[in-house]
Amino acid sequence: MTWSQGYVTDVDYTFGYYPELNPAMLDLACLCHGVAPPLGDKPRYLELGFGQGVSINLHAAGSDGSYWGTDFNSAHVAGARTLARVSGADIRLLEDSFEEFATRTDLPDFDAIVLHGVWSWITDAGRASVKDIVRQRLRPGGIVYVSYNCLPGWAPIAPIREMMAICRDRSRSGANGTILEARALLNELVRAGADCFRDNPLALHHLETLRRQDPAYLAHEYLNADWRLENVSALVRDLRDAKLTFLGPARLLDAVDAIQLGVDGRKLIARFDDAVMRETLRDHLVNRRFRADIFAKGPRRLTGPELREAWHELAFVLMVPAIDVPKRIPCARGEAELDAQRYDPLIEALAGGGYRAKTIDELLATPGLSDRRSEDVAEALTILAGAGLVSPARPLSVEKEARCSALNAYILGRARVSMDLQHLASPATGGGVRATHVGQLFALAHGEGEDRAEALAQYVWRFLESVGERLTKDGNRLEAKDDNLRALMPSAERFLKFDQPHLRGLRVI
Ligand SMILES: C[S@@+](CC[C@H](N)C(=O)[O-])C[C@H]1O[C@@H](n2cnc3c(N)ncnc32)[C@H](O)[C@@H]1O
Repeated sequence: MTWSQGYVTDVDYTFGYYPELNPAMLDLACLCHGVAPPLGDKPRYLELGFGQGVSINLHAAGSDGSYWGTDFNSAHVAGARTLARVSGADIRLLEDSFEEFATRTDLPDFDAIVLHGVWSWITDAGRASVKDIVRQRLRPGGIVYVSYNCLPGWAPIAPIREMMAICRDRSRSGANGTILEARALLNELVRAGADCFRDNPLALHHLETLRRQDPAYLAHEYLNADWRLENVSALVRDLRDAKLTFLGPARLLDAVDAIQLGVDGRKLIARFDDAVMRETLRDHLVNRRFRADIFAKGPRRLTGPELREAWHELAFVLMVPAIDVPKRIPCARGEAELDAQRYDPLIEALAGGGYRAKTIDELLATPGLSDRRSEDVAEALTILAGAGLVSPARPLSVEKEARCSALNAYILGRARVSMDLQHLASPATGGGVRATHVGQLFALAHGEGEDRAEALAQYVWRFLESVGERLTKDGNRLEAKDDNLRALMPSAERFLKFDQPHLRGLRVI
């Protein structure tokens, strides 16, 4: 076995950002599960398998505290260290495998240890090392975030993965080539009328979705030597060895039954107190395929008054311009409506004052919300945060603003040559805020003093021309300069009117 232990290394991983890993979001998730938020504004934070390092870098720039991470892929470490140097954050990015990291003697005790997109794809030895790290280095009261592929949702898709694994063992084409070969073979199986797909429509549907997915993501999902599928109950048993207690989902919407479940499902869940049983039933009710959970080493459960006090200490910000808050959000049953009477005044209040962060008391003091109960506002904020539309805020400081500004200048500069980074750092949220590539180019132009929509559109056009790219409309490439400029104008106007004030409010630009 090589250093990579069968883990895919010939294709670098995607540049994803995961807001659930934000220390502020982790604290909020703990609060939602009735546990004292353990991180605060200066956590000692460890990310295992940080990939391209986008999440850890945005969190280390936007929040105080000290950040450690390890990933055995040297290319990932090199790229992630570049971001770390730029921001000047307190961050150490190591190239150790989990096995090597577990034997280090120079580590502090951590408040949080997080692994996203790692646990299901590593060897048993790797998982044993992760548990050693948690046992030895997570402080009492600290938390673990772990995401993983789960049952029952993945069960119908297991045969597709196994076909991919067989193709991997026979292919000489590298990871990308293997994915293409395996996809072609699976489609031939369908055309040959394979009973497996006839009897298993979910697998057939899944095969369709593979066509649209990035081969780099698919390689890391399907081609690693190890792939574990487990029920939440099995993981809870496994992590008991590391003295961990299950708290509940890190993705806040997953725990909101009113949004996710029908009446009968809700009745069934309501019969049980036990968190693991409730989660297992929920997973079956929505046929869940992917989980992200929070565990604690000795959680401190809060009393009712303590919970209320903790909620009142929090402040919140909108993560998108108010105009972009949708009327419906995706959920397990399709879509759930954000009732206008309940949500519109809250969105308006959050957008007020140039999007500055507001506590529940400040929100209740706004005219549209004065008749609300604080519990109702807290629940609505939880749903909006779960949908990625709101984030808990962190106190601002000169140091955080300087780190985010340096990192954002680098990311915006990189937008001239690459489209890989889709997030900017915010000292207000302590993490990342989504910014499309064109949005980044507008922000660059705006930062250089352009404040007219025509000038922003011209700026993006010059970029497109320099790299030989063009916009497309209805699937057709727009060749002429004027057509491109005309197509850019609405988004340039939108940027000036809506995105720019929002990004400014979150201290991103
Ligand atoms: C699927 S990627 C996820 C990356 C990142 N957490 C994300 O979600 O964007 C898994 C990462 O874990 C790293 N990894 C896998 N096994 C490892 C091990 N035993 N020791 C250290 N890193 C490992 C890989 O190099 C890869 O960067």
